[in-house]
Amino acid sequence: MTTTTATAPGKVILFGEHAVVYGRAAIAVPVAKVKATVTLTDAPAGTGCTIAAPDIRAHVSLSGQPKDPLALAVRLALEEVGLEAEPAWQFTVRSDIPIAGGMGSGAAVSAALVNAVFAHCDLHDRAQPDRETVNRIVYAIEKLHHTNPSGIDNTVVVYRQPVWFVRGQPPQRFEIARPFHLVIADTGIASSTAAVVSDVRRAWESARLVYEEIFDGIGEIASAARRAIVSGNVDALGSLMRENQRLLRQLDVSAPELERLIAIAEEAGAAGAKLSGAGRGGNLIAVVEYKKVEAVQEALLAAGAAGTVITQVGS
Ligand code: MEV
Repeated sequence: MTTTTATAPGKVILFGEHAVVYGRAAIAVPVAKVKATVTLTDAPAGTGCTIAAPDIRAHVSLSGQPKDPLALAVRLALEEVGLEAEPAWQFTVRSDIPIAGGMGSGAAVSAALVNAVFAHCDLHDRAQPDRETVNRIVYAIEKLHHTNPSGIDNTVVVYRQPVWFVRGQPPQRFEIARPFHLVIADTGIASSTAAVVSDVRRAWESARLVYEEIFDGIGEIASAARRAIVSGNVDALGSLMRENQRLLRQLDVSAPELERLIAIAEEAGAAGAKLSGAGRGGNLIAVVEYKKVEAVQEALLAAGAAGTVITQVGS
């Protein structure tokens, strides 16, 4: 009996969410401190292929629920490696990425499942498909979760590196001249990316010029942030985050709890903070000088954040 373990990290969008759906550039980074982990074990012959995700109390079988996103991830991966018969496999999915929190938990679970299938097949002398293939499959699953995903979430989670992302184009890497720190804080409010993205779409349909202008502004902030990151001018990131958050407010994707915790982070010494992901709940990110990281984290937890993660971007 063989067991294979595969993982995929969480992610945060540094700049550019929502506008990225409309073709503007965005920057996202993986967050390795949280991850989805899949173990795949050979099961007795004839027992079929099952996927258990105890954290969300899900238990699906490949043949029984073929349209379930977990089953679909496995099925598309099996098709890719040319395995037609359903294998006797048992998957267990675990994840410590907050669900519906804007940190890519759905994409990470799909990526870990696909990675597990490929790695397991590799053990049986099949060739290992590349990241582009994994990304294509995970994007197909993302389309089930959200009707109109830009593709940024699956890309950063699959490639596991900071990405400069423009919809429909290959992701670009970029230099991080000076590392910087983020405090990520969970509002504890679940938020459906699909619902928020649809609301923005409706608003854009009724006032295109206004929304296009906001998206342009967000795209310019992402470009300025990239210039700052590649030149090591990390001091500029705080004000860029504040400015990005101002425009996200205009898109009506913030929420009172996000605003409250963003203010707490900035009062405690963060250079700037903003929501990350779809908004309305989920997580916020704060860019913080290293010596102030602990104070900001403590202030956020004392103010009721459901959890925090500290991450360094760049090495
Ligand atoms: C969600 O993490 C990011 C959004 O921009 C949606 C997308 O890009 O598909 C809100």
